[in-house]
Amino acid sequence: MTRLESYTVSLRSVQYILIGGIFLYAVGIIVTYSRLMEFESNVSTTRSTKSDGDKPLPYPGRRQGSGRGRVQCDEDISRLVSYWSDPRSDFDRAFRSPFSVSPSALKNSPERRRYLSFEPDRGGWNNIRMEFEIMVVLAAATGRTLVMPPDNPIYLLHRDKRNRLRGLQKFFNVFDDVVDTISMADFFRMEALEKKSYPLPTDEKNRTILMKSVQSCLWTEQSNSSCLFLNNYLAQVADFVPDWHGEHHCLIMDDENWLRDASEGGDENEIQQQQTKQFCAKRTPVYYNKVMHDAPLIHFRSHTKDARLLVHFYTFIHFTKPEIGNYYKRLIRDRVRYSDEIFCAAGKIVKSLTNESFTSYSNGAGGDAGYFSMHIRRGSLILITIGDFQWPKMRISADQWHENTRSWLEPDAGRLLYIATDETNRTFFGPLMEHYKVRFLDDYSELAGLSDLDPNFVGMIDQVVASRGRVFVGTYFSSFSAYIGRMRGYHGLSGKRMFYSHPKYWNETQNWVYPHPAYASREYPTGWVGIDKDDEPSEKDFY
Ligand SMILES: *[C@@H]1O[C@H](CO)[C@@H](O)[C@H](O)[C@H]1NC(C)=O
Ligand SMILES: *[C@@H]1O[C@H](CO)[C@@H](O)[C@H](O)[C@H]1NC(C)=O
Ligand SMILES: *[C@@H]1O[C@H](CO)[C@@H](O)[C@H](O)[C@H]1NC(C)=O
Ligand SMILES: *[C@@H]1O[C@H](CO)[C@@H](O)[C@H](O)[C@H]1NC(C)=O
Ligand SMILES: *[C@@H]1O[C@H](CO)[C@@H](O)[C@H](O)[C@H]1NC(C)=O
Ligand SMILES: *[C@@H]1O[C@H](CO)[C@@H](O)[C@H](O)[C@H]1NC(C)=O
Repeated sequence: MTRLESYTVSLRSVQYILIGGIFLYAVGIIVTYSRLMEFESNVSTTRSTKSDGDKPLPYPGRRQGSGRGRVQCDEDISRLVSYWSDPRSDFDRAFRSPFSVSPSALKNSPERRRYLSFEPDRGGWNNIRMEFEIMVVLAAATGRTLVMPPDNPIYLLHRDKRNRLRGLQKFFNVFDDVVDTISMADFFRMEALEKKSYPLPTDEKNRTILMKSVQSCLWTEQSNSSCLFLNNYLAQVADFVPDWHGEHHCLIMDDENWLRDASEGGDENEIQQQQTKQFCAKRTPVYYNKVMHDAPLIHFRSHTKDARLLVHFYTFIHFTKPEIGNYYKRLIRDRVRYSDEIFCAAGKIVKSLTNESFTSYSNGAGGDAGYFSMHIRRGSLILITIGDFQWPKMRISADQWHENTRSWLEPDAGRLLYIATDETNRTFFGPLMEHYKVRFLDDYSELAGLSDLDPNFVGMIDQVVASRGRVFVGTYFSSFSAYIGRMRGYHGLSGKRMFYSHPKYWNETQNWVYPHPAYASREYPTGWVGIDKDDEPSEKDFY
């Protein structure tokens, strides 16, 4: 067994230990609950009443049977950072996707395990996460096993000099209960080596490269374990290789008509047709059908420019029945979240900031405590051209940040301001430090135990801390900022408590906006408002 194989195996056992741990935690620990989470206009540090042992406390506003999720650390911290339902509601646990029945199974032929493989997006972490969410929803909805890409050097996540390779799953909590997953190496062992469902390269050198790259890979052509080689191979052997692009295509999941192979669509009722039209706008609708469904392996060439799926899952996949679409939005909210390690570390910081704001600012008066937060993106936003859209640079000086945001925050009032940033030069923030008590992640290294964690977690921790700010100001076009907005939405925080620093975009989150091109430049309230109900989220759900 190679070193990398044993790494994969130990990751698996860690997963099992985690699952076991969560189970024991769920049954063993007395839970507390407080409305502190809601944060709307009140921050309180009083402890809530205890419930009886194994019963999770209900989650107000969520479907029946939902409990408030917890992280495996201090109770106060769970209350501060968790936004997911765990357990999920009775309805969600009983839900079966209408797209998971197999037409071939209906004809009494033995069902073959079907797979979905994909290439990680070519951008930074938040772009990779966006595309990954699409893959989770698709695999879960269509009853496929999700093939996890091998560990690879994820763009900009190279802080650990001893091991620059990571798998996506490292950053998320386990979600095996909502989608079946398999590692690329196991997929090859089972399907290519044992069952011989897919031919291996005849050339021995190429075969060696392939077998190495399924374990872990690098993004270079020349490498002996090349992600590009692996991706090309998968594209060659897969039974269906979509050429969909997030800004040019939209995927329609019509539960009534897909089995009839409605590849052209148009079988929906009138209201559904209108909704599909609004959803896709200028994009070409692609209708999920039997051909796609029956393909044993679907491979997404999503690392390539032409097939990039750099859009939020809820702006790419449209379920003609809103109750099904809302179910998948809840699935992402409740099950595809950052790991406990990330939430615990961030929660310690949120707790400390909250306490500091409570004790130092409001003298215990309550109502106005809480900290402000900003995401100040300095490294130029990667210039990506998607169709007609090009992301401009959004770099502005700290003076401008102060001027642009002063009317939404409370300068010169001894306020705490948490800044999530990639700028390492503190002098840059001087103009803001004159008006606020500024805090950065580094100030909490010891408190949050950052030195014991994967150094690549810092961005995610920054996001969670910033998401709990009373008012948050982000950088437009940044998917890092946008996701902070989504997490705030999951928490039930009003969109009117978020702004963008750039004067041209300052009020983007203030009102109801239906998803529009360029879809990736921001998040949209359809991703989180009204999703615990059965009808299509609309302006009436906006808060
Ligand atoms: C090995 O793979 C490369 C890349 O796919 C291909 O160009 C080359 O022809 C292959 N070599 C042999 C001997 O098949
Ligand atoms: C690939 O492997 C060959 C022999 O196995 C070796 O000579 C070569 O240096 C390797 N290339 C890289 C980029 O590691
Ligand atoms: C809150 O802060 C005060 C000092 O500002 C400290 O004495 C107290 O222990 C802190 N409480 C918590 C729960 O961190
Ligand atoms: C904050 O909560 C406390 C206790 O629940 C309550 O008495 C107070 O009125 C609340 N303040 C605001 C501003 O809502
Ligand atoms: C840090 O930023 C300040 C102000 O923006 C600048 O004057 C200084 O040269 C910077 N220092 C470094 C080391 O880049
Ligand atoms: C946003 O603000 C601008 C002025 O900066 C205003 O013209 C525009 O109507 C506002 N948009 C919305 C949706 O409120």
